[in-house]
Amino acid sequence: MNPAAIDLAVIGGTGVYAFPGLQHARRHRVSTRWGEPSSAIVVGEVEGKCVAFLARHGEGHTLAPHRINYRANIDALHELGVRRVVGVNAVGGIREDMGPRVLAIPDQLIDYTTGRTSSFCDAEGEAVLHAEFGEPYTESLRRGLLEAAHRARIAVVAGGCYGTTQGPRLETRAEIARMRRDGCDLVGMTGMPEAALARERGQDYACIAVVANWAAGCGPDPDAPISLEEIHAHLAAATGQVPAIVRALLAV
Ligand code: HPA
Repeated sequence: MNPAAIDLAVIGGTGVYAFPGLQHARRHRVSTRWGEPSSAIVVGEVEGKCVAFLARHGEGHTLAPHRINYRANIDALHELGVRRVVGVNAVGGIREDMGPRVLAIPDQLIDYTTGRTSSFCDAEGEAVLHAEFGEPYTESLRRGLLEAAHRARIAVVAGGCYGTTQGPRLETRAEIARMRRDGCDLVGMTGMPEAALARERGQDYACIAVVANWAAGCGPDPDAPISLEEIHAHLAAATGQVPAIVRALLAV
């Protein structure tokens, strides 16, 4: 399949290392001026449409959130001609209706990361781009995902503010309390700078946030420590719904 005709790219997060049912799949090793992307880009067919898949943390989950080369990931997709990107991100839930296994399509974000290279405007002598980012996710793609989930009969929460922290450690309760006061509904480690870089490259971008756990101090038992086993069990169950949403998106 001609990669120039790629209809959609999916960037899989924790628990999503492949796209099930990708037919006639071919692996592309793309190198960019920013370095290597996290994994080979697997391009194949879903619902008769050409789809690219990239494992954000690497196929063996070897890259921590702050070590991911977000620029190489977005630019590699851009070089393959990708114009629409869906990022799948594991998150913790802050708001009462954002408990474990919930899927959400956020509409806002706050960036708490530090020290990540977050722009393509990085070379002397090149024009500086101040990307418009008031609405960090592309509304038409968000709507498309919400309608696709509805057609696939998969419950998703529409909207929410995704706070991106530096990680890889989880947050303190005080940090989450502050994020709640700031208006965050979800907390994760990989939402930024991915969304901003996609905007700089002119790609449509939206996020499927998969709630793995209650964020620190949240939920019905705020004193309970967050267990990794619990995170993995919730993610395994909830990420299983993602391909059906993407299929329904592509089917129209
Ligand atoms: N905090 C930050 N990132 C996360 C969490 C969390 O509680 N759960 C999954 N990713």
